[in-house]
Amino acid sequence: MILPFGAKERAEYYRLLDGMFDSNFWSDGPLTRRFEEDFSRFTTHSHACAFSSGGLALLGMLEYLDVRGAEVIVPTNTFMATPLAVQRAGGRVVFADCGRADLCLTLAEVKRLTNEKTKAVMVVHIGGHIAFEIEGIAAFCREKGIALIEDCAHAHGATFKGKTAGSWGIGGAYSFYATKTMPTGEGGMVVTNDRGFDEWLKMWRNYGKKVEKVNGENVITYPLTSGFHARMPETTAALGIVQLKRMPEMLEWKRKLAEKYDRIFERHVHFPAGMESGYYKYIVFDYALKEKTGPVFGELCNWFLKDGKTYAESEWVAKHHACPPMYFGWEHSDKSVDALRKILL
Ligand SMILES: Cc1ncc(COP(=O)(O)O)c(C=O)c1O
Repeated sequence: MILPFGAKERAEYYRLLDGMFDSNFWSDGPLTRRFEEDFSRFTTHSHACAFSSGGLALLGMLEYLDVRGAEVIVPTNTFMATPLAVQRAGGRVVFADCGRADLCLTLAEVKRLTNEKTKAVMVVHIGGHIAFEIEGIAAFCREKGIALIEDCAHAHGATFKGKTAGSWGIGGAYSFYATKTMPTGEGGMVVTNDRGFDEWLKMWRNYGKKVEKVNGENVITYPLTSGFHARMPETTAALGIVQLKRMPEMLEWKRKLAEKYDRIFERHVHFPAGMESGYYKYIVFDYALKEKTGPVFGELCNWFLKDGKTYAESEWVAKHHACPPMYFGWEHSDKSVDALRKILL
């Protein structure tokens, strides 16, 4: 797979880099501010905070919630970044099984695992669509006073009833890792409508530092003791600005291919009314594909806790799902449904 980044995108990227050298800001500068603004507009949030990775964006959210010694419910069918972020923040990982229909956390599982020690639930919108039961999970968390955060690493461009990933909890963390729907190589972003949360994260990613203008002078203080280095470099923010402009084109490309796949595969993830996937992956069940990309997840994450429990639905999905190519730029995407069927089956 070659990441498509043509002459037009390169020219725009190099122009932004020229501006960076002229501005003398190589980190935490105007390109980061602009990428944050653009991305918050894209996800219709009032704030966005850029990070050097999706994993650190998750960690920042958990540090804000202060989950030390508390239980955090996460699905076992995710990438290790999700539970490792909880562990690193000092929380106790409580693994949940997924629903077979959407591969995501279910309300029944969240209810079953909640107790007085539960401080947060981390929903993962895995595969590129929104967790089907997100509304019920959000209502339950609100009622119980449990924080809800969203791992949106796969969910660029996904919507449910017009809302984007990161809209149901206090915030959501996206990843721009090289294989993601909107890659910048490395990078992450927390989107939120909570101004105080955003301000806290912007200090946390910069060693807990606050810079304020007092009588025209920069005054530096360190209000947080828990911060660390998680800043996004300006070179990455420049790539983000260019890539984000291409999102409508990339999403349209993916949705067109998905429409063809819908005619080839009867057994695929069927979305409820009002949901549009961002199609990080296209997920089918029980097909032997001649051409495919990596699965949404392989081994379940609970192996590292050695909890000895079984997660029947996640285990079933791990064995039975597969993903025909859905990465932007796949060479056969323009082919007819019949031609694609022959390539894939
Ligand atoms: C579900 C999920 N969460 C979090 C991450 C972490 O993102 P990053 O690699 O940018 O740290 C990834 C992927 O890399 C992921 O797939």
